[in-house]
Amino acid sequence: MAPNGRNLSAVTPWWRSAVIYEVYIRSFADGDGDGVGDIAGLRSRLPYLADLGVDALWITPWYPSPMRDGGYDVSDLLGIDRAFGTLEEARELIAEVHHLGLRVLLDLVPNHLSDRHPWFQAALAAPAGSPARARFIFRDGRGPAGEEPPNDWTSNFGGPAWTRVTGPDGRLDQWYLHLFTPAQPDLDWTNSEVREEFARTMRFWFELGVDGFRIDVAHGLIKAEGLPDLQPVGSAPAPDHTASHPHWDRDEVHEIYRSWRALADAYADPRIFVAEAWVNGPERLARYVRPDELHTAFNFDFLLAHWHPSPMRRTIAATLRAHEAVGAPPTWVLSNHDTVREVSRYARPADGRPVRRLDDLIARPADLAAGRRRARAAALLMLALPGGAYIYQGEELGLAEVEDLPDEVLRDPGWEQSGHTRRGRDGCRVPIPWSGLEPPFGFSPPSASAPPWLPQPPDWRSQTVEAESAEEDSTLTLYRGALRLRRAHPALGDGTLRWIEVQAGALAFVREPGFACIVNFWSEPVEPPAEADVMIASGPLQDDGRVPADTAVWFAVRPRPGLSSPGW
Ligand code: NOJ
Repeated sequence: MAPNGRNLSAVTPWWRSAVIYEVYIRSFADGDGDGVGDIAGLRSRLPYLADLGVDALWITPWYPSPMRDGGYDVSDLLGIDRAFGTLEEARELIAEVHHLGLRVLLDLVPNHLSDRHPWFQAALAAPAGSPARARFIFRDGRGPAGEEPPNDWTSNFGGPAWTRVTGPDGRLDQWYLHLFTPAQPDLDWTNSEVREEFARTMRFWFELGVDGFRIDVAHGLIKAEGLPDLQPVGSAPAPDHTASHPHWDRDEVHEIYRSWRALADAYADPRIFVAEAWVNGPERLARYVRPDELHTAFNFDFLLAHWHPSPMRRTIAATLRAHEAVGAPPTWVLSNHDTVREVSRYARPADGRPVRRLDDLIARPADLAAGRRRARAAALLMLALPGGAYIYQGEELGLAEVEDLPDEVLRDPGWEQSGHTRRGRDGCRVPIPWSGLEPPFGFSPPSASAPPWLPQPPDWRSQTVEAESAEEDSTLTLYRGALRLRRAHPALGDGTLRWIEVQAGALAFVREPGFACIVNFWSEPVEPPAEADVMIASGPLQDDGRVPADTAVWFAVRPRPGLSSPGW
């Protein structure tokens, strides 16, 4: 038993109900004062995470990297980047996390490596057709002199997904595939050396004590044989993210995850995975969490749902159904380091238009006060749903996207790669405010030699951990309270729910034993259940106890004679 009472060897697997905190390490806490978050900073803030009440943390890539895509361009799978610390510090961190009764997941990036990785350097120095090139996806170009890319695939950050190289003899040569930046060449997962290298990598970190991995681009590892065009001449554009897509969510990818599951299960305290898989709907997602595959997978449909009861209920119900069919718990998430913070998403009208990227939203009018109320309500909704949940750093402070970062500080590769048309993801990656009245808000020590790597808005002074800890109605107090209740209440975490029909504009459900949740999106105030006590509310209730718009409430429902389950 760990000091805080968490039992690390409980019978129900811990991950079925876990609340896991995403640490975007560059922006979490800076220990050495260079303006960039690091392991030392994270270690100093571990008591905060334990006190917040999460079960585990997921640390975004900390491996050596030229940082062309925030560390998702890994040049050494088995090391720690100097900006973040040393392997010894990583080992100490893992021990400290465990001592606090928490667990730790790392980020595994199997779809691509950095172009500075020795394997890619060797591939560049080797001729076409060599074993060194066979680890990546090199192809001859089209056109008489190979001057056209091998197919029409595009990079996620804009532009073609192919870059041509100069061969060892100095002449223009083959092209290599990169679904992300040119600095992230895709690996060929039909190559056995690639498979062995990642098995070795997982074992290395498992032996160091990590409890699992978040799998980056889990839906992208396998490419269709022959690398067919996305859009054959004359036909309609291929539908996005379907089983027939040439590089997303291919059925063949599951065989890889079956082998990883076997690897993870071989440990006495089995290790776990969470998939980052952007796929087409809950049935496709559930395929990643079949019993012999990955344990969990982020549910991005929930993240992308507008603040509206219909899409919310639809996505929750469909997710529960699809996951139940394979016996896996759903994994709810409201934001991460790639998506617009939910305060800013929900500040926009629920008009069905896209919300994932800042560029989708930036020109649309925002009501941030409403966004904040809704984000708080969404947090109670998420934490009441069956399964596990992820919290992205700063979400518990109610931070909004920083939408007005000056052009010259933008670091997301999408900004350059799109020819300065997409501002990208920096607005959700601004370093966390911990304390004090002005930047760096305790993110860096007072002796810091550099400002935070992205500038913090001065009005974050009221949203520091210090300021919010002192406020009874702050978002941090709400998260702490909800996480404490969730841990203690037998109905919460893994399990099921039953919908209760209430007026249009609101959602309500009960969970056994004795728990009810009402979320009012935009309707008239909603009656609470009979014989129920408010456990926690995301905002003030009406004087008569009814739940107003933009508000969620958890109720403890007393059993009533003659009713086998609590009801309205
Ligand atoms: C998903 C990561 O979360 C994102 O930050 C990264 O740019 C891409 N995968 C490529 O690795």
